[in-house]
Amino acid sequence: MSEPSAAPHNDAHVSAAGVGGRGDAARPGSAAHHAARGSSPGTRQGLWETLTSAVRCPVCRAELEVGERSLRCPRRHTFDMARQGYVSLLAGGRRTVNADTAAMVQARADFLGAGHYAPLTDALGRLAASLRAPGDGLVLDAGAGTGHYLAAVLEALPGAVGLALDASPYALRRAARAHPRAGAASWDVWQPFPVRDGCADVVLNVFAPRNGGEFHRVLRPGGALLVVTPTRRHLRELRERLGLLDVDPEKEARLERALSGFFVRERAESLEYTVSLSAREVENLASMGPAARHVEPRELIARVAALGEPVEVTVSVDVFVYVAAGRTEPAGGTDE
Ligand SMILES: C[S@@+](CC[C@H](N)C(=O)[O-])C[C@H]1O[C@@H](n2cnc3c(N)ncnc32)[C@H](O)[C@@H]1O
Repeated sequence: MSEPSAAPHNDAHVSAAGVGGRGDAARPGSAAHHAARGSSPGTRQGLWETLTSAVRCPVCRAELEVGERSLRCPRRHTFDMARQGYVSLLAGGRRTVNADTAAMVQARADFLGAGHYAPLTDALGRLAASLRAPGDGLVLDAGAGTGHYLAAVLEALPGAVGLALDASPYALRRAARAHPRAGAASWDVWQPFPVRDGCADVVLNVFAPRNGGEFHRVLRPGGALLVVTPTRRHLRELRERLGLLDVDPEKEARLERALSGFFVRERAESLEYTVSLSAREVENLASMGPAARHVEPRELIARVAALGEPVEVTVSVDVFVYVAAGRTEPAGGTDE
């Protein structure tokens, strides 16, 4: 849906203790307590009762009510909760071209599960916990994938609840189970997000498309945007030999253009280290990214085999913390 985001700024605050609260995540009767209780897919009612303080009907922007296995607005626009626990907010299960496939998501889950990006996962948790006004409210992850990083940030913010937005149903199935305090919903991040203005304390954006205007609209004043992008040295040992796409030398400039006018950079951390990978792990690493779309799986396996094992691979990323700027006209708009 491409409804314009014209609602007035209402400074909603969603917390694990309920709207407007700052409370103990595990307090019996609190939303976080319900969330933790309803951790299995399909039993996330308590969590969604909290999340619907932020989430709006994507058709008419009205408030949503939580039903048995759906969310519904007063005009009867109804959004099903899949058996696997995520809510389909994208009309008619519409998919976007860049949504990850089942195979890409499996490869990503396996690779991240092996811990090779643990320093990045830890850095995001540490940065989220150190924010000037640490969010005990809502953490919104745009392009969340399997919800791996959202889960780490929620661990670092015990009072917060999370919302994973992604266009891939395969990713959402995993994101819906990534953390007891995380809900997941299908959405195209190029469209106005189906949430209230100013409802999020933290927006996460890790290797995913970014929509500066929407990030700005949904963050509450004083909230923070955490962005992770690869540097040109990221996976450099693999790029040529496996046919992975090069990191655009203009990537950082494009990031600045996409966010300028909306955000100012408050902090940047560079993370660079080497991992030693088996052939299977290299295959997963290549298969979870854009290479999966342009190199045939058989060809990829052959190229990986030719590398021998183990393979030493550089992980090199930048982690940026942005805070909202006073709103001016953006120079750029959106970026991926
Ligand atoms: C490279 S993956 C990163 C996933 C996750 N942030 C991580 O680092 O593990 C990019 C994610 O963005 C999602 N995506 C791509 N285009 C999208 C769009 N227009 N709207 C929502 N999600 C999108 C993909 O489905 C995928 O899960």
